[in-house]
Amino acid sequence: MRKVHITETVLRDANQSLIATRMPFSDFEGILETMDKAGYHSLECWGGATFDSCLRYLSEDPWERLRKIKDKVKNTPLQMLLRGQNILGYRHYPDDVVRKFVAHAVDNGMDIFRIFDALNDFRNICVALDEVLKRNAHAQGAICYTTSPVHTLENYAKLGKELEEMGVHSICIKDMAGICGPQEAYDIVKALKETVKVPVYFHTHGTTGLGPITYFKAIEAGCDGIDCAISSFSNGTSQPPTETLNFALKQAGYDTGLDEDITKEINDYFKPIKEKYVESGQMDPFVMGVETDALVYQVPGGMLSNLIAQLKAQNALDRLDEVLEEIPNVRKDLGYPPLVTPMSQMVGVQAVLNVLLGRYKNVGKEVKAYFKGEYGKAPGEINKELMAEVLGAEEPITGRFADTLEPQFEKAKEQLKGVARSDEDVLSYIAFPQIAEKFFKEREERENITVSYSIVKK
Ligand code: CO
Repeated sequence: MRKVHITETVLRDANQSLIATRMPFSDFEGILETMDKAGYHSLECWGGATFDSCLRYLSEDPWERLRKIKDKVKNTPLQMLLRGQNILGYRHYPDDVVRKFVAHAVDNGMDIFRIFDALNDFRNICVALDEVLKRNAHAQGAICYTTSPVHTLENYAKLGKELEEMGVHSICIKDMAGICGPQEAYDIVKALKETVKVPVYFHTHGTTGLGPITYFKAIEAGCDGIDCAISSFSNGTSQPPTETLNFALKQAGYDTGLDEDITKEINDYFKPIKEKYVESGQMDPFVMGVETDALVYQVPGGMLSNLIAQLKAQNALDRLDEVLEEIPNVRKDLGYPPLVTPMSQMVGVQAVLNVLLGRYKNVGKEVKAYFKGEYGKAPGEINKELMAEVLGAEEPITGRFADTLEPQFEKAKEQLKGVARSDEDVLSYIAFPQIAEKFFKEREERENITVSYSIVKK
C-alpha cells in the first residue's frame, strides 16, 4: 500500500487564511496531545503570519508558543513556513540573522522547514536551507506555482532539480492561490517525479473549489504528501478537509496513517471554537465559500479582496474590471512574478495606480526596489524600457541582494541590552522592531502587576 502523508494546517495556514491568524494558544492548547496521536505526517503550526500576529495582536511570545506546542506534541514533527531571506517579514534580512533565526527555531522545537521565495529565486533560500541542513532538521524547498508563458513543465522540473542539488530532503509545490487544476497538478508532479528522487508534496487552498480533485490527481501522479485542515477549519481560503481526503484516499487503497476516531475528536474540539469566531465576526462567511473568479482572473482570493478594499477606499469600485484587466499587463512588465506575498501586493497596487492615474504615471517604491533587483531575479524578462525609465541613472543589482546587507544580529543585541532577555527576543525585535518593543514593554508591565498582586495576596 502506498503511503500518502497528511500534514494538518489548522494551527497555521487555516488559522491564517480564515481568521487572519488570530487564534490564541489557549484556544488549541487542550487538543495538542490528541493531535499528536492522530498519525499526521506533521503539524504546521508556526511561521507565515503566526509570528507577527502573536506579537502584534495576541500578546504572545511566538517562541514561547513554539516551546509550549513542543511540550505537548512529542512525537509528530512540527512544521513551519519560512519566507527564505525574508524570514517571516516582507524584506530581505542579512545572512547572519537568517542563520540565527533558523538555529533558534530548531533549538525551540521546529522539525520541518518549508522554505520558499516569492520569485523562485533560490539565491534567496540557500542560506536558510544551508542552516537547516547544518542543524539536522528537515529542509523542504518549495516552488511557488503560477501560470505564465515562462512557467512551463520544463521550468518546474528544472527548479526541482536545482532544489535537489541544493540538498533539500523534499520538495513542495506551493499553490497559494488554489488555482492549480487537477491536470496541471498531475503533469507537474509527474515531471518532478521523473526528475528528482526526493519526495514531492503538494500544497493548495480550497478557494476555487479545485483543491480535493487537484490533490487526488497529484497523488495519482506520485505525490507523497498533501496539506489538509481539520474539516471545521477547512475549505474556502483554507485547505481541503483532512477527514474527507483521508476517507477518499483510504478507499482508493492508500495508507495515510490517520486514525478516524482521533480526527473526529479533533474536529469535535474545533467546532465550537469555529462557532465562536463566526459569532464574533472574526470569521467572515465570504472566506468560507468557493470563489471561482480566481480561475478567470488567475488572481488569489486574498488579493481580490484587497483590491476591492483599495478601490472602495478610493471610491472607485466601478473600475474593478479595468484593474483586473491591467493585472496581467503589470505581471508581464515585471517578468511574470508569482502572485504571492509580497509580489501580489506589489502587482495589485501598481495595477490600481495604472488604472486610476494612467499607466506608470506613478510607480510604487516597491516596484522601483524590484526593478533594482532588491527582491531577486524575475522569472521572465522585465520590460526594459519601463525599467530604464523608473531607475533613471541608478544601476540595478545583478548579484544577490542579501550580499549587500551588513550583519545585524550582534549590533541589535548590543542595542537591546537590558530590554531583550534572550537571543529570541533580539530576533523578534529585528523582525518587527516597533511591535516587539511594545510587546516587551507590555510583558514587563504584566509581570509587575502579577508580582504586586502576589505580594498583596500574602
Ligand atoms: Co497556503
